[in-house]
Amino acid sequence: MAKNNFKNGSKSSNQNQQANLQKVKGFRDIWGQDYFRQKGAIEKCEDVALYYGFSPLEIPMVEATDIFERGVGEETDIVSKELFSMTTKGGDKISLRPEFTAGVMRAYIENGWASVPQPVMVYNYGPLFRHDKPQKGRYREFKQFNLEMLGTDKAIADAMVIKTSVSMLEEIGIQDVVVEINSIGDKESRKKFIKDLTTYYKKLNNKICANCRERLKTSPLRLLDCKEEQCQQFKKDAPKPMNCLNPESKKHFKEVLEYLEGTGVNYNINHTLVRGLDYYTHTVFEFEKTFSETKENGEVVEKTLSIGGGGRYDYLGKVMGSKKDVPAVGVAIGIDRVLLMPGTENVESKLQKKPKVFFVQIGLEAKLHSLSIVEMLRKARVPMAQSLSKDSLAVQLGMAERLEVPYVLIFGQKEAMDNVVIVRNMSNHSQETIDIDKVVDYIKKLK
Ligand code: HAM
Repeated sequence: MAKNNFKNGSKSSNQNQQANLQKVKGFRDIWGQDYFRQKGAIEKCEDVALYYGFSPLEIPMVEATDIFERGVGEETDIVSKELFSMTTKGGDKISLRPEFTAGVMRAYIENGWASVPQPVMVYNYGPLFRHDKPQKGRYREFKQFNLEMLGTDKAIADAMVIKTSVSMLEEIGIQDVVVEINSIGDKESRKKFIKDLTTYYKKLNNKICANCRERLKTSPLRLLDCKEEQCQQFKKDAPKPMNCLNPESKKHFKEVLEYLEGTGVNYNINHTLVRGLDYYTHTVFEFEKTFSETKENGEVVEKTLSIGGGGRYDYLGKVMGSKKDVPAVGVAIGIDRVLLMPGTENVESKLQKKPKVFFVQIGLEAKLHSLSIVEMLRKARVPMAQSLSKDSLAVQLGMAERLEVPYVLIFGQKEAMDNVVIVRNMSNHSQETIDIDKVVDYIKKLK
């Protein structure tokens, strides 16, 4: 038999002291307006993505850990420090997805999508998990809206992914979007750049921070991600990937920039942008935005965050077991971060409708019929509000006023017996009595 924890108060409060009944650090409950703003932002992204010809793809929330170790890279922060991993009862090593790209490539290979017309253009959205240091804009569970174009090496695909994401950001309310962009070129160019970078940083080994010394050994590209003050000047003077591009890589990047200019996307070539995931080749890009945060002591500080980023990843397919190369490009927009930015305060979901009427019921007889009336209005898609659990007329009218509802339906004992309802205009307080079976048509005609 199940134990009743609530038999006596002292027992249940003792148990509360021992058990951790709080939400897990870095995770959030998202409700009310915050929920609808997230949903609205995703709806806007989805609308734009469908318009540009991307189709929806849902992939699992968990994958074999190998997918991320191989795909994203074992030395990346996302995999080496931030993966939520576990071993199943059957002994399989699995991880909560920290991003979509590796999972999408897994789906492309596993489902044989190389044999359908290329490119395969998909979008995904939903929660991702990274064991990051929680702070405003950095959560352990967060949401992305993600686009991938697989099976094309054309520069116009890079430009299209960027243009689509700029449009999504603008639809959500972000103005003046500038794309920070760079190219790390193909395998050959990237190899040359890493060699030049390593030679340069080896000479600075005793001047750079401990993290950079480690990166020099394991993932030299990440040296350019360093935020430590002591390393900034070295970063500035470091070799630039642009100077290591071979002619084909140069041509690809030049074309991407031409397409962006052609479509009016503002960009800024950022020579230190390399991105923190191993799979990138050629174009890499990021969208950055600044917002103000009020600290506990009242001080207002400005914070710049990356609200989205992506790039080309032409070799990931083979790394993940494809026999042929799968040239591809994609982007992910960070929904939680976008919604911290000015301009997005009033994002709404299509599900939200401002109520046109507030239904007020008074007395037992009216309450008995009230669910049927609410259902009649719902079926007729009349946006409405009500509080059926309340009894007092004054309380219900007060709620209608707070909601600024233009009309109130009053349904009392007498109205219930006569099969009518009173429709009150809240701006001039005029009212009319209408038969219940005519009330939907009557309300629909009201302005
Ligand atoms: P990413 O730069 O790791 O790229 O993440 C994309 C965006 O997700 C970031 O710009 C940020 O807005 C958001 N984000 C990342 N971590 C957090 C966090 N802890 N809390 C809140 N928001 C966060 C990728 O994930 C690549 N898979 C993008 C891509 C798609 N590349 C090619 N295709």
